[in-house]
Amino acid sequence: MAVKAGIVGAGGMAAYHYDGFVRAGAEVTAIADPDTARAEAFAKTRPVGRVFASLAEMLKALPELDAVSVVTPNKYHKAVVIEALTGEKHVFCEKPPALNAAEMEEMLAASKKADRRLMFDFNNRARPESRAMMRCITEGSAGKINSAQATWIRRAGIPGFGGWFTTKALSGGGPVIDLPHMMDLALYFMGYPRPVWCLAGTFYDFMDNKAFKGPWGIPDSAGGITDVESSCHAMITFATGAVLMVRCSWAEFVERELVSVTFQGTRAGGKVERLFGIDGIDATSIDSCRLFSEEYGVQVNRDIITEKDESMGRIGQASNFIDVLNGKAPALSTAEEALVLMKIVDAIYASAATGKPVEIS
Ligand SMILES: NC(=O)c1ccc[n+]([C@@H]2O[C@H](COP(=O)([O-])OP(=O)(O)OC[C@H]3O[C@@H](n4cnc5c(N)ncnc54)[C@H](O)[C@@H]3O)[C@@H](O)[C@H]2O)c1
Repeated sequence: MAVKAGIVGAGGMAAYHYDGFVRAGAEVTAIADPDTARAEAFAKTRPVGRVFASLAEMLKALPELDAVSVVTPNKYHKAVVIEALTGEKHVFCEKPPALNAAEMEEMLAASKKADRRLMFDFNNRARPESRAMMRCITEGSAGKINSAQATWIRRAGIPGFGGWFTTKALSGGGPVIDLPHMMDLALYFMGYPRPVWCLAGTFYDFMDNKAFKGPWGIPDSAGGITDVESSCHAMITFATGAVLMVRCSWAEFVERELVSVTFQGTRAGGKVERLFGIDGIDATSIDSCRLFSEEYGVQVNRDIITEKDESMGRIGQASNFIDVLNGKAPALSTAEEALVLMKIVDAIYASAATGKPVEIS
């Protein structure tokens, strides 16, 4: 029997969840959003059947649902995820997993108690380049990864002034929490080692300067709050001895938007990159996957050829969730990894606030 799923939140990622679920053979039978006009508008683009104002209404009307996906602003992830798990549904939730590690602990505990799957949309893991790179790493091409650099820097990419993205109480923070993708991808390539120390700095420049607005996001809200960081530079060390450097920004004087993970292993280095043709616009992007090694006494660069995926793995990651429920594939991301990521996010903010290294336990 096909997995039956409902979507909570008619935000921009809802279409990717729908398309990924359907591609994997699921039936998406409902969408819920307190902004029912937005949910109705979504239902005109994808045949979801029923529209509800809340998850509670959806669960009551459709007890047969097996799974729920969550596409709400970050502040609501924890409550919606736990409500769905308590209703004995499997859950696929947008990134970031939660506002902080304490919330993520609660979500993980709820998934264990309900014995239901909890996965997050770390869509960059599902990109063809990432899958190809992970295969090379798993087969031993890179050797032991000593160090990595996770970069998602935007020159002018603030996703709306005064809306939920720029309000710490609603989002949890700026690019550190909004752009965790490359940090997650680097950790994934490194085998999610146990983090030990973090030293970080965050900066709050340009958060009232509309010349730094991105070409996407949500509308500006006059008089709204802009109390999140605009950029971050951090270093994380691990129990394995490995070291990760993290750079992320919404607004910073860099040449252009850069999205990449690079790493240095004992047998090869590597780089997975997306270069947006026009900053932030997916259709014009150039994706690449490369290995840097030494063979027969000469230095060698290899281009790994993969198919194009304009969705940046978003459809593939949603499909993987359904494949996991059907027992057809291993999970591309786990809630345990999400907890490690949120501990690092907490440590970045704590170190930036104190100016001191923070130990991660
Ligand atoms: N994976 C990615 O590449 C990616 C890209 C963009 C956004 N996101 C994530 O997707 C999530 C949504 O972001 P967005 O840009 O679509 O936001 P958005 O503000 O455009 O949409 C969010 C929707 O959620 C609805 N909502 C709020 N509270 C709700 C609740 N309790 N129940 C149901 N619906 C509720 C809102 O009415 C709104 O329609 C965020 O967590 C964001 O970080 C992920």
